[in-house]
Amino acid sequence: MLRHSISLFALALLPATATAQKDFVANYDEDKIAPFQLPDPLQTESGDQVTDAEMWTSVRRPELVKLFQSHVYGRGPAACKITHKQVSTTEDALGGKALRREVDVFFGNPGESPSMRLLIYTPKSASSKSAAFLGLNFQGNHTVDPDPTISLNTSWVRSRQGTTDENRSTESARGVASSRWPVEMIIDRGYALVTIYYGDIDPDFDDGFENGIHGHFKSETESIPQGERWGSIAAWAYGLSRALDYLQQDDSVDGSRVAVFGHSRLGKTSLWAGASDPRFKLVISNNSGCGGAALSRRAVGETVGRINTSFPHWFSDNFVQYNENENACPVDQHQLIALMAPRAVYVASATEDRWADPKGEFLACVHADPVFRLLGTDGMGGAEPPAKMPEADAAIKSGTIGYHLRTGKHDVTAYDWSQYLDFADRNLK
Ligand code: GCU
Repeated sequence: MLRHSISLFALALLPATATAQKDFVANYDEDKIAPFQLPDPLQTESGDQVTDAEMWTSVRRPELVKLFQSHVYGRGPAACKITHKQVSTTEDALGGKALRREVDVFFGNPGESPSMRLLIYTPKSASSKSAAFLGLNFQGNHTVDPDPTISLNTSWVRSRQGTTDENRSTESARGVASSRWPVEMIIDRGYALVTIYYGDIDPDFDDGFENGIHGHFKSETESIPQGERWGSIAAWAYGLSRALDYLQQDDSVDGSRVAVFGHSRLGKTSLWAGASDPRFKLVISNNSGCGGAALSRRAVGETVGRINTSFPHWFSDNFVQYNENENACPVDQHQLIALMAPRAVYVASATEDRWADPKGEFLACVHADPVFRLLGTDGMGGAEPPAKMPEADAAIKSGTIGYHLRTGKHDVTAYDWSQYLDFADRNLK
């Protein structure tokens, strides 16, 4: 976990942000948004207009990835060698519909490096390798399905009433997150599902570089300038890329057709994973909000200052410069969405999830659209991007950028998954 050792610059800001945290009042009034100008995804840092796919790929895209590394998420080590070990195989999961396996993937050699456990479901009806959804989960693999034979995760978990004991998961946690993981529906539609507990990669608290992969890659991390070192979101995204390294060697999953999915902080993570690793064919952000799909400059709901204060270990130290100062940031989140182009990306919001600024998430898609069109895709579909937000539960899913606003709260539901599956049928099959 990343220790944010405090730079002089951040120190000067600390008292102000601590106060900001205490007195923070979220703005939800469109009329109170301060005027802003979004940085143009299609203008290079030297001021040239990007006119074709070649220029995007060779100049602007790498420039933007670097800007997000330096100013937002931070930069981690190069890809490490991975090794893996089969842990279990169940031939007749989900009433015989699926093969279920557990595979430990090590960030180096077994015995010398941390590992993450992949829970993998593949449809038994498949005649060749299956396209897959890969997503991190919040509470352990044993929470996605009540099946008592899934191994109980023994790593640190955030304490939750009824399902944990001294930050360890208990038997009563089995299946508690199953409404967010409709495994059978995914298998019935012909896809594989791969999930990993995010705390296997890096526990979600600030412990000063000791555990998880931050601790494992200590010397690599220390060779990166302080302000640009990877935060937890970048660490989780790194784990997703190493999981993809493994899936590219798997016998039942087609590693060239993997969708990366995540909810909330893990939606911020799936977006950064998809932006930094172009091998992901489809990228899905479920209610990711601030630091995810929502435009930071709108500062509606959660703001950059608020997120850096509540969760100081998620982003790079440099991101703190943009607390209450979003306009000074050289990038905004529509450019993150643009980094998926010409691959497919889906952004989902929920009507009651105002903290995540649904309109800001929608507008990020709209402002990413020109990049997708320049690269020869149809962006959000139609001749041009929609002029206003769609009605609730009217998904936009015919183009390369999908979007919906679901009725309800901050969550992942069967409605969300059914849109992702439709979208995957067009973009992943
Ligand atoms: C908090 C945080 C959000 C985050 C969410 C989550 O609400 O402010 O930025 O998305 O937690 O991950 O559950």
